[in-house]
Amino acid sequence: MSQYEGYTLWLTGLSGAGKTTIAKALEARLKEAGYLIERLDGDVVRQSLTRDLGFSKEDRDKNIERVTFVAKLLSRNGVGVISSFISPYQATRDEVRQETTNFIEVFVHAPLEVCAERDVKGLYAKAFAGEIPNFTGVSDPYEAPENPELVVNTHLETVDESVDKIITYLVQRGFIS
Ligand code: PPS
Ligand code: ADP
Ligand code: MG
Repeated sequence: MSQYEGYTLWLTGLSGAGKTTIAKALEARLKEAGYLIERLDGDVVRQSLTRDLGFSKEDRDKNIERVTFVAKLLSRNGVGVISSFISPYQATRDEVRQETTNFIEVFVHAPLEVCAERDVKGLYAKAFAGEIPNFTGVSDPYEAPENPELVVNTHLETVDESVDKIITYLVQRGFIS
């Protein structure tokens, strides 16, 4: 039996804010320390479990609903789930909170200008050129978390600083030691 409770760490933020980078670095640190971790990421999940979905509000909600089902099963069985999805709607994130075990909302924040400047995958250039419809922050809404457990400002801190902040929180909550 695992000594620790599971949890659902939920990284939400704009494309390019740093969700995937932080999730991967955090996963590496926690796995290295021997913890049971599963990572769920929008770009990956959308190639399998939700490959039939697009980016309308309805499809984004379905995407998160399916992921929530997976996170629920894992987190209630002692796994630390690290989820990284734009998940732009507060009401949808509130539903994830209700469904999963030990939900922790992390606002991965950088101003839109910084995300667009990073343009990790070249999507902002296409979105500003009108080639990608419903692009979050450009032509689709993003509702910033109203009351997140944590905020990481990735335009002001390094990846390691952001990860340390999350690890400190997990220790405080007793999910790791
Ligand atoms: S959502 O809103 O939670 O269902 O989105 P998510 O599953 O996290 O998928 C986001 C990734 O899809 C790519 N992409 C887009 N993002 C936003 N808007 C539009 N229209 C779009 N089209 C494709 C993009 O690679 C997102 O990944 P991140 O890591 O956020 O950049
Ligand atoms: P997202 O998954 O939210 O779309 P990515 O992780 O793909 O974002 O991209 C974030 C980019 O920002 C990467 O190039 C990363 O190196 C950079 N970055 C700079 N500072 C940070 C930080 N503190 N946390 C996360 N990413 C950062
Ligand atoms: Mg990503």
